[in-house]
Amino acid sequence: MSGIEKVGVIGGGLMGSGITEVAARAGLDVVVIEISADAAKAAAERVEGSLRKAESRGKIEPAEVTAVLDRIRFETDLETLADRDLVVEAASEDEKVKLELFRTLGQVLTQDDAILASNTSSIPIVKLGAVSGRANHVMGVHFFNPAPVMQLVELIPSLTTSPDTLDRMRSWVTETLGKKPIDATDRAGFVVNSLLVPYLLSAIRMYEAGYASAADIDRGMVLGCGHPMGPLALSDLIGLDTVKAIGQSMYDEFKEPLYSPPPLLDRMVDAGLLGKKSGQGFYGYEG
Ligand code: CAA
Ligand code: NAD
Repeated sequence: MSGIEKVGVIGGGLMGSGITEVAARAGLDVVVIEISADAAKAAAERVEGSLRKAESRGKIEPAEVTAVLDRIRFETDLETLADRDLVVEAASEDEKVKLELFRTLGQVLTQDDAILASNTSSIPIVKLGAVSGRANHVMGVHFFNPAPVMQLVELIPSLTTSPDTLDRMRSWVTETLGKKPIDATDRAGFVVNSLLVPYLLSAIRMYEAGYASAADIDRGMVLGCGHPMGPLALSDLIGLDTVKAIGQSMYDEFKEPLYSPPPLLDRMVDAGLLGKKSGQGFYGYEG
């Protein structure tokens, strides 16, 4: 048994809102922290929107939607997390932001055995542990997008994570959430992104070089390889800022040219074309 009943989630964006939904649907009490009242409101709307969509498809009963929403609070003060058994950090993929959060959270959590986990896609877990002052209780727990639908969670202990922390997280992910874990080591990209991100970046380079249209690149992989969506649509789903940040972290660690974000990706992020979450990426998503 993980002994985890009170959960905190930092960041209520694409992943934080999905992780919140998964944890609250598993019966847990969840506090979500966002950077402002407006961002907290947007996070609440994201969670409710996803639950209503599941309800409209008959995946969840209306009464259960109400019960799930009653288990979630949206706040802006990290101190609200003091009594949590577990905090899952799902803030933007920015090392400075995460280091600052882990430094603060290490002091905020009051329970000696509270676990601090990061949903980072690529930032070294060991660094987050080091600044927290409680490195043995820090590890990576990497959910996949969309979190309510995807079964996989990567479990990433660092050199300093205790075996007990890993055991409790494994039990929480499998027994409480019903997800399926794989074990990964603390290397930028872990298992899945080490394979996926160079593929996404290659597709962006292919589009940038004019090999084919975005639609044809994606149709090639959907119709030719049976993928549920093509690499450019998937990059839009993930968020182009996040794809860029993951590629950059992987490049910083391995100096492998395939991991380096191509100029078009840089330009799109600079222009605020972040994919589905901003309404425009390789495709448009207005309305
Ligand atoms: N709760 C419960 N079920 C939900 C749900 C929710 N909130 N939202 C959707 N679902 C269910 C739907 O009911 C549907 O179930 P059925 O098939 O039984 O009807 C199923 O999930 C799929 O939903 P949709 O019909 O809305 O969507 P779709 O069939 O077009 O699939 C998709 C959408 C799941 C995103 C699919 O296109 C897909 O799998 N794409 C690939 C996603 C992927 O590769 N993700 C990994 C990204 S990489 C990553 O996450 C790591 C990183 O660090 C960047
Ligand atoms: P996102 O841009 O959708 O959301 C990030 C949220 O974090 C925003 O709402 C932002 O307001 C909030 N935030 C930023 N700084 C904060 C702070 N100091 N305190 C509280 N909230 C803060 O990003 P996302 O896609 O949800 O990614 C979140 C994390 O999950 C990243 O580490 C990313 O690499 C990882 N991840 C992303 C995906 C994906 O497909 N997008 C998949 C798996 C993991």
